[in-house]
Amino acid sequence: MILPSISRSVLRQHSKAAARYATNIHASRTMATSSSPWSQFEMAPTDPIVGLNEIYNKDDFPSKVIVGVGAYRDDLGKPYVLPCVREAEQILMDKNLDMEYTGIAGEPKFVDLALKFVYGEDSVPIQENRVHGVQALSGTGGLRVFGELMAKHGHKHIYVPNPTWGNHIPIFTNSGLEVRKYRYYDAESSDLDFTNMMKDIKDMPKGSLILLHACAHNPTGMDPTMEQWKEMSETIKKQGLVPFFDCAYQGFASGDPVKDASSVRMFVEDGHLISMVQSFSKNFGLYGQRIGALSVVGADEDEAKRVVSQMKMVIRPMYSNPPRQGARIVTTILEDPRLTQDFLDQCRGMADRINLMRTLLQDKLAEAGSTKNWDHITKQIGMFAYSGLNKDQVMEMREKHHVYCTADGRISMAGVTSGNVDYIANAIHDVSK
Ligand SMILES: Cc1ncc(COP(=O)(O)O)c(C=O)c1O
Repeated sequence: MILPSISRSVLRQHSKAAARYATNIHASRTMATSSSPWSQFEMAPTDPIVGLNEIYNKDDFPSKVIVGVGAYRDDLGKPYVLPCVREAEQILMDKNLDMEYTGIAGEPKFVDLALKFVYGEDSVPIQENRVHGVQALSGTGGLRVFGELMAKHGHKHIYVPNPTWGNHIPIFTNSGLEVRKYRYYDAESSDLDFTNMMKDIKDMPKGSLILLHACAHNPTGMDPTMEQWKEMSETIKKQGLVPFFDCAYQGFASGDPVKDASSVRMFVEDGHLISMVQSFSKNFGLYGQRIGALSVVGADEDEAKRVVSQMKMVIRPMYSNPPRQGARIVTTILEDPRLTQDFLDQCRGMADRINLMRTLLQDKLAEAGSTKNWDHITKQIGMFAYSGLNKDQVMEMREKHHVYCTADGRISMAGVTSGNVDYIANAIHDVSK
């Protein structure tokens, strides 16, 4: 096509301008990358548990199943808000409360109720007013504050069970503590490795911090018996260790919050000056509200209060003060006997459904033709089944069957439903036969 001369000259000007523009853009991009303060940042690996959701979401297979993250689902596989929580929200809404800051230690009424919930109202140190604590950003936040508090007060290391919840390790490392492990589980027999655990406890240097899962050990679901807890309590005392309880599943394990607090209460009765983190994520289903508590049993009231004052010194520059809504919800429920009873019934309902799924999964594995011993599925307690599947089997289950669990073979029983249990059982059998 022959263009009129005027058009050609305009075009030439335009293309020169376009070329200049492109050169400038290129130059500024090059400058931006070479002088960018972020250029040295490498892409971090995805979280082994939370990142599983991202992989799952990209899978468009219609019957895909996720049994990864530990969050309760109803029998239709849907997230569940406890009706008592919905009712508490309505009560709070009707009160038209303000949104002012709470104190560094959170809502005092919540902390009081949370401590009575786990230690028991008639616990001697509660009666003697020597158990004190702070509201925490759920279990994770409480663990982090505790780690930093202890590192600031001369502790160099903490012993955690092997295996333990994956996040314990970076939480304590980031707090400035060296993480050491004690034997806990025997993968061969899919059982607690009690003998070796006791050997390791006896080898711990005096004054060491030792982390204990109060109930529903994550990831194994295998808890010591009460007799074994007694032996641990005696040995930990004799060794002069400092026991720290992580109580993330109170009520969620057996369906009874008092029973699930037995290990903690026994240690306190035995005279241990324990510390503890509580989470209300699972038992109250308040995952995203980030509500928990961090507490300590002191030799006397003054001592417990001094420790809390130091917790506040860690919290203030870290996040200043915690959010209020979760604390208000738990408080509304626990200060009302009728709502507390509703909570107990609804919490038991979740635990019962999970236990039913355990039995069903074991039965369905047998029905699928598996001749392996799957007794541990029903022997374990709480949210997870530590299946015993190895990493290759887990990957095969993902690729071939679109069933997603964590690489260590941990299956969130809360994600198993009467609608998908057959499918999951067949997938497990197929990769493990
Ligand atoms: C043993 C254990 N501790 C603490 C937590 C922390 O949970 P959250 O921060 O939601 O309370 C979890 C969650 O899975 C857990 O399993």
